[in-house]
This record gives sequence, structure tokens and C-alpha cells, in this order.
Amino acid sequence: MSARLIDGKAIAAALRQRIAAAVPALPRPPALAVVLVGDDPASQVYVRNKARQTRAAGMVSIEHRLPADTAQEALAALLQGLNEDDAVDGILVQLPLPAHLDEAAIIGQIDPDKDVDGLTEANAGRLVLNRPGLRPCTPTGCVILARDTLGDLTGKNCVIVGRSILVGKPAALLFLQENCTVTIAHSRTRDLPALCRTADILIAAVGRPRMIGADFIKPGACVIDVGINRIEDSAAEKGCRLVGDVDFEAARKAAGAITPVPGGVGPMTIACLLRNTVLAACARKGWPVPEGL
Ligand code: GUN
Repeated sequence: MSARLIDGKAIAAALRQRIAAAVPALPRPPALAVVLVGDDPASQVYVRNKARQTRAAGMVSIEHRLPADTAQEALAALLQGLNEDDAVDGILVQLPLPAHLDEAAIIGQIDPDKDVDGLTEANAGRLVLNRPGLRPCTPTGCVILARDTLGDLTGKNCVIVGRSILVGKPAALLFLQENCTVTIAHSRTRDLPALCRTADILIAAVGRPRMIGADFIKPGACVIDVGINRIEDSAAEKGCRLVGDVDFEAARKAAGAITPVPGGVGPMTIACLLRNTVLAACARKGWPVPEGL
């Protein structure tokens, strides 16, 4: 039997719709500042999409594009200005940064209450401690997709393949908050296929194209593929195409539900960023959080 497709595009569109419906009732539209350093083509596309979707939701988009040779001090000074600007609710520094910049130090400059990526030490600590805070967008998107597919996640076995700061580790904590039994697997895990076959929910976040095959999947499992890998394909229009960390055609025969790439987790990340911008504005200003977010 073939798995049900988890339509991340539609679920993200519904979330963006709820955000757009909530924004006009706020005292003022929330504002998101996005900082892009350099000219990485993929980052430029992401930043353009973020700005477009921010405006489409009725919010204010502020873009700062800086040259690739921007000095650490100049970027820090820009962030300081954004931290102090009361009209700015959310700040996102697009990653990766050029190699000469100290990424951790830059993220550390962002006011945690405006850290819509949820990457500062303060927000990571709040997540560990179950305190209110801004949660990372991609893992939050994974939880929303799993809940949309399975309903209450209590007691489900969740295996997360990948231990990155951006996805794997925060995803583990978010699924734990959903009362899942969580296992984090990584490159040194023994017998990875057997471990993955214990998963009711399998999160693939390793960045290795089509690594997760049908033999990793318990029949009927919910498979969420975070990978976005560009592979060469002479038959594709531009000579390359996007694939996930899951071998989709093989896995869909075993899984109960599965996200496609593209059109699965990807659209959820920006929708969760917009949601975080609203949540940041509400927390900073003492506004009640709109219903449905
Ligand atoms: N680059 C790729 N994904 C992300 C993300 O979630 N946040 C930021 N800031 N940069 C990214």
C-alpha cells in the first residue's frame, strides 16, 4: 500500500491564513527584520520568500543585505540597532554566514525576545526548562505536521536521525513535550535501520540524500523528511533537482504517511517564522496571543 502524503504546502498555507486573519486585530502589525550577509544564491531565495510571505501576512518586512566582506563589528552594530528599535519584533540572521564571521557570537548578539529562530542560548535554555520562549521553526513545523497526521502524539515512539542544533536537538525536546518517547540517532548509532524501525514517527534530518530506505521504516509509520538536498539529474530542467534524506519512492511503500520534498517540511519553516514573529510581538508588548496560533 502507498503512504498518505502529508501536504506541508496546504498545512503551511492554512497556518499563514490564520496569521493573516489575526494580524489586523493587533494594535500594530508585527515587524520582522531579516539580515543577509553575502550573495549565497540559496540564501537569497530563502530571504526573498521570507520577505514576500511576511508582507502577504500583513506584517512589516525589513531587509538588510550586507556585502560578503562585512566585518563582525559592523554586523554586531546593526544587530544592536535592531535590538534597540522598539518597532522591530523579530530578528533573523540568515545562515550560513561567510566563513570569516563568528556565527555563534553573532547569534549571541540577538535579543532573545526577538530571536524568532529560537537559536540563542536563552531560548535553548527555555526550551530545555519548558519555560515560555521562542522555539526553532523547522522542528516546530515537524511537530505541527505530525499532530496534523496523527492527532495526540502521547506515547508514540519518535526517532530523530540527526543531532544538529538547528533541527535534531530542538526537535527531540519538542516531541518530548508532546509526550513522545524520543530517541536521537546519529552517524555513530549502531544498526540505524533497526532503531528507525522502532519509530511510530521518524524524523530524517541528516542532510544525506535518500539515505533512509524502506528497510528503516516500520509499516504504517509517519515519516517526516527535513532534508533538502540538491542532486544532479540530467533529466531535470536545470540539470539538478531537490531530494530529501528519505528515499521517497521506496519509503512510501512502507510508511503510513510521508512528507514529500519539496512541499513537506520546507513551507512549514517560513509559516512558523511568521507565527514566531506574532508571538514575539505579543510577548514583548503584553498583547494576548490571537486564537488559532
Ligand atoms: N538557513 C537555513 N535554515 C535556516 C533557518 O532556519 N534559520 C536561519 N537563520 N538560517 C537558515
